Amino acid sequence: MKNIKVIGVFSFFFLFLGCNHHKPQVLIAGHPDEIDISSTHYAQGKHFAIATQGVQTSDVAKTIIEQGGNIVDAAVAVSFAISVERPQSTGIGGGGFMLIHLAKENKSYAVDFRERAPFQAYKDMYLDKNGDVIEGKSWTGIHSVAVPGLIAGLFEIHEKFGKLPWPAVVAPAITLAKQGVVVTDHLSESITAKQDELLKYPLAKQRFFTSDGKALPKKSILQQPELAQTLEAIAKHGKDGFYKGWVAQATVAQSQKLGGMLTHKDLTSYEVQWRTPVKGQFEGQTILSMPPPSSGGIHVVQILKAAQPFLHKEKGAMDPDNIHYTALAMQHAFADRAKYLGDSDHVEVPMQGLLDPAYISDIQKRIKSGQTPAMQVSHIDPFTFESNDTTHFSMIDAEGNAIASTQTINGRMGSGVIVDQAGYLLNNEMDDFSAQPGTPNAFRLVSGEANAVAPGKRPLSSMSPTLVLRDGKPFLSLGAAGGPTIITQVTQALLHVIDERMGIQDALAAPRLHHQWRPDVVRCEKTMPADIVALLQAKGHTLEMSDHLGVSQGVQFDPVTGRFTAAHDPRIPGLAAGR
Ligand code: DON
Repeated sequence: MKNIKVIGVFSFFFLFLGCNHHKPQVLIAGHPDEIDISSTHYAQGKHFAIATQGVQTSDVAKTIIEQGGNIVDAAVAVSFAISVERPQSTGIGGGGFMLIHLAKENKSYAVDFRERAPFQAYKDMYLDKNGDVIEGKSWTGIHSVAVPGLIAGLFEIHEKFGKLPWPAVVAPAITLAKQGVVVTDHLSESITAKQDELLKYPLAKQRFFTSDGKALPKKSILQQPELAQTLEAIAKHGKDGFYKGWVAQATVAQSQKLGGMLTHKDLTSYEVQWRTPVKGQFEGQTILSMPPPSSGGIHVVQILKAAQPFLHKEKGAMDPDNIHYTALAMQHAFADRAKYLGDSDHVEVPMQGLLDPAYISDIQKRIKSGQTPAMQVSHIDPFTFESNDTTHFSMIDAEGNAIASTQTINGRMGSGVIVDQAGYLLNNEMDDFSAQPGTPNAFRLVSGEANAVAPGKRPLSSMSPTLVLRDGKPFLSLGAAGGPTIITQVTQALLHVIDERMGIQDALAAPRLHHQWRPDVVRCEKTMPADIVALLQAKGHTLEMSDHLGVSQGVQFDPVTGRFTAAHDPRIPGLAAGR
């Protein structure tokens, strides 16, 4: 019954797309938001399963596999498609990370295509002459832009491991950009949130707004013909189609026009880094996650290990003591993040030290004695950041390959700067640097000297694409969107699946909490039972209730049935698919 409804919805959608209207105004009945979303948040497969935040994007994965593509082809095609379907969260003007486990080689790769600071960037670029942070400068507009890495990353990954020709994996995104994508609530709200900046650019005004200057409404269609042309250049010329030629000209010209720092040298010299995943053993399983410039892998493993002796698995996920100790382990991990983490190509990050058993046992002693990490900084009046920007997808196949990838342009609609002619939004990833040690960024995160701005340096990330191997084979692929909550979302999902034996679907649905050391509060989803909230308060935590904390996706292998289960976070629309 549900399937029939879904098919009906999509045939209507594509019929509409066939009309190929230029200016998106028409409302669509049966937008994916109106599908009974329980049918889109969970899927099983014998050959593969995938979960993404894009209803059309997950279908792209299926198409690529049907065309004879392998898991890497599917992941690259999905990355392109989601950047068209969710331009508010990710895009070719951004970057990200991908964890890849390949069965044939029995090897895992951590691919870093994170943006990096332009060569003209410098440490105090966000401070005024009194040494105070200039509000908004690292968040909105051309000064917030770092050099995009997505295209270089996808190109190298495909070149190394892909099977289908490169144009074939770019093609579905070109079609989506030309024909249009359905505007979701989130996209419409994101356009509104960034409208002051977006409306400065004629192309953004034309594409993201109605003729009377309002953000495209939910259920209208967003067509991106200029982006389609850019994608065609990339399909034809590979990464040079983005980092050289007319697209690069347009990018540098836009930056120069706005007084920004991007140069041709920034673009042509961008380098992808192939890194060794952070590895940790937990309950007999191998956790693989992202090393610096992401803080994700180190802190996911650190929190799991620090909390482990305090947790009573048999009491389950909703035990107040389990929650309390997990929150304390988070608090200690984020204090370390602020002090030690940064781009390891530029600063010394004590990666082994932070996960060393002696150090973990020191954290455990501090937790036990009730010692909280020192208050090193004051924080300015924080604003609440409830965004679900950034995007993650997870995939596992029957050959024993697995992929987890998190990609972003950072905040909603990134910097808000669109590249004229090329039709893509530039990121605002520079905000992930520490503008000034001790001053929180948009996610209320504080970081220090290790994460200060420097030319060519990558800003510290929380993105945590994670794979779990059981007996050497992929058992879980996990990841999330939502700034620093990414780390705690992934950690909690791992605890639920590994310790509490929940299925991935329930693990992602369970109420979440988040502690990031500063501010010294436990953020907690409103679905957390009231008695637990009261018990946490009684233990001395200050609680801040949130509608929801982030968005996760995961795929889990069931060795008994031999099937894969894909789950997309029940909190927002997306699509789990399998075959
Ligand atoms: O790399 C990071 O940690 C951030 N730029 C991720 C941004 C994000 O998840 C936005 N969503 N709220």
